[in-house]
Formats: sequence, C-alpha cells, structure tokens
Amino acid sequence: MNGYDLRTMGSPKPRVFSGIQPSGGLHLGNYLGAIRNWVRDQDKYDNIFCVVDLHAMTLPWDPKLLRENTLQVAAVYLACGIRQDTSTIFVQSRIPAHSELAWILTCLTPMGWLERMTQFKEKSAGEQRERVGTGLLTYPALMAADILLYETNFVPVGEDQRQHIEYTRDIAQRVNQRFGQVLTLPEALIPKAGARIMGLDDPERKMSKTLAQANPGHAVFLTDPPEVIRKKFARAQTDAEPAVRFPPGPGVANLLQIYQSVTETTAENLERTFAGKSYNELKQAVAEAVIAALRPIQERYREIRSDDAQLVRDLDRAADRLAVTANATLARVQRVTGLLGHD
Ligand code: TYM
Repeated sequence: MNGYDLRTMGSPKPRVFSGIQPSGGLHLGNYLGAIRNWVRDQDKYDNIFCVVDLHAMTLPWDPKLLRENTLQVAAVYLACGIRQDTSTIFVQSRIPAHSELAWILTCLTPMGWLERMTQFKEKSAGEQRERVGTGLLTYPALMAADILLYETNFVPVGEDQRQHIEYTRDIAQRVNQRFGQVLTLPEALIPKAGARIMGLDDPERKMSKTLAQANPGHAVFLTDPPEVIRKKFARAQTDAEPAVRFPPGPGVANLLQIYQSVTETTAENLERTFAGKSYNELKQAVAEAVIAALRPIQERYREIRSDDAQLVRDLDRAADRLAVTANATLARVQRVTGLLGHD
C-alpha cells in the first residue's frame, strides 16, 4: 500500500493501538473493559499503548494531578502485565504529530459528526455547554490521529468507545477518498464480558473516572486497599428481590458481570453458584475475587512507582522510537493534502 507500512518493516504481526486518559484513578471498568484484554492478547499483536494526556485536557484539570496521573496510568499498564518486549508504552504529548494530524482531521470533519457523539452530548448537556472547552467537541479527531498515525489494525476498547472508532474509520475513508490511499482503516475489538461495567452506586450509569471523583463509592480503583474494596461492594446497589434471581435486575447483573469477568467463569457456573444466595454472599464473593485479582497488580505497581525516574526514561525512549512511524504517516498526509515542504 505504501513504503512506510510497519508490517513490512520487520513486524509480521497486526498492529494494536489503545489508550487511557490520565484524568483520574483507573478503575475496574478500565481494567476489565480494556487493560486486561490487552495483556491477554499481547503476544498476538505488535502493541502500542498510550497514556493520552492531551485528551485529559478536554475537561478541567489540575497540572500537578495530570503529571501524577500520567505516571500512574503508565505504571498501571506495566503492573497489570503489559510487557515491554511485545508492547510499547508512551505518553501522547511527547509526539507532536498527534496534535498536528488531529488538526488536519478536525478540518475535514463535519461539525454534525462531532455534535452527534454520545460522549460529547453526555458531557456537555444543558448549561455545561457554555462551560466546556472546544476540545471536548474535537476530541474524536485527536483520538483518530492517535490510531491512524501508527497504521493500526485493531483497537481494543470498552463498548463506550465504539462510536469513536467508527468515526476514525469514517474520517480515514474520507481522507483516502479525497487524497489517495494514505491511511489504514482500524477495527474495534470489544470484549464479550466486561465491556460495560456500571457504577456500584448506580447501575444505570457507566463506571467512570469523572463520576468517581464526585462519589468514591461509584467505582473500585485499581489501587484501593482490600478494606476499601470490601466496603464499596458492601454498599453497592442491588435489586428489590430478597435473593439473587436469574435473570437478575441491573444492580445484581453488574455485580455478576464483575465476578464473571474477574474469575473468567461461564454464565452457567455463575447461575449455579449464586442462584438463591443472599446479596451479602454475592457481594462478599465479588469483593474477594476482585481483591485477589488486584493484589499482584498492586504489589508490582508499588515496585514500579518506587523508581519514577526509570519509568520516565522508558517512556521517553519509547516516544523517540515511535515518533519515526508517527512522523512518516504525518508527512504522507501533509504531502497529499498540499502542505508545502513535504514533497
Ligand atoms: P477512557 O480513558 O475513558 O477509558 C479507557 C478504556 O477503558 C474502557 N472503559 C470501560 N470499559 C468497561 N466498562 C467501563 N465502565 C469503562 N470505562 C472505561 C474504555 O472503553 C477504554 O477502552 N477516548 C478514550 C481514550 C483514547 C483512546 C485513543 C483509546 C484516546 N485515544 C486511541 C483507544 C485508541 C477514552 O477516553 O478512554
């Protein structure tokens, strides 16, 4: 297709790209919907995992916290088992090509496409619209740039990102149709279990970093100690029934989904284990399964964070390596779109 295709430059494996915003502590939804699947499948692909710090600027932020959260997300990737021999971990803002390609894509994106995005509608509802920055609207163009710069084949994400990947395909197709085949079309990879973990306080709302800031009982953070995890599950919303029934209502379904996803058990096993049990028994079982899954991650996390200087060095080196690919894609787009000095 083109002279820069990474897959013809030594790596026969399909390319995976994904990222997480350092906009708050990472929670169980981020782990079950995304990171855990990245870890499981990392040998099948040539992986790039990004800490998307520029995306974290689409809502108000505190500079000190942004720095801390950026290191935290990178350390969590490693602590969860992302290996640096199969995967490259880097920070988005270290490669300026992301912002530059995002600008070109923004200019090619009809406003209506962005205004229809569910995430934009949710986060800018009502009077919020007068307060939120324009970056929240143009956010998908930056995400598309992230993905398209690396000739990505697959993007493993939770269900809430499906629309953004569809947009990425649409805008890539638009560029290719108008200017020639310069971009690779990616596909979303969405897990069967764990793709949409709901809030413990409100099973009608997706577990999110933003909602967790207002109400800590909303989410289990990956760094929560066992006692906190037990307390959060003990207070989780359940249903009006006296015991666990199948099919369950939304609160119990969410707890069961977490249990199933953490223990990787089957739906039949789930029903056999919990049908007729009290909510307390269910909550305790879920809490203990989550604590057991997080224990080794928390240990590794502490180790990694004991040497931030090393972490920053690794992130910088990774960005230097990846910039070569990113700049090549950007140069290709700049050339075909008529920007001077790129022929
Ligand atoms: P973010 O930071 O909101 O979430 C990171 C990942 O976690 C998944 N996720 C969930 N999965 C299941 N249940 C939940 N409650 C839940 N909450 C979050 C998300 O689907 C995501 O996979 N726009 C992206 C970040 C991004 C990106 C990219 C992703 C920027 N550029 C390029 C992939 C490729 C976001 O805000 O994710």
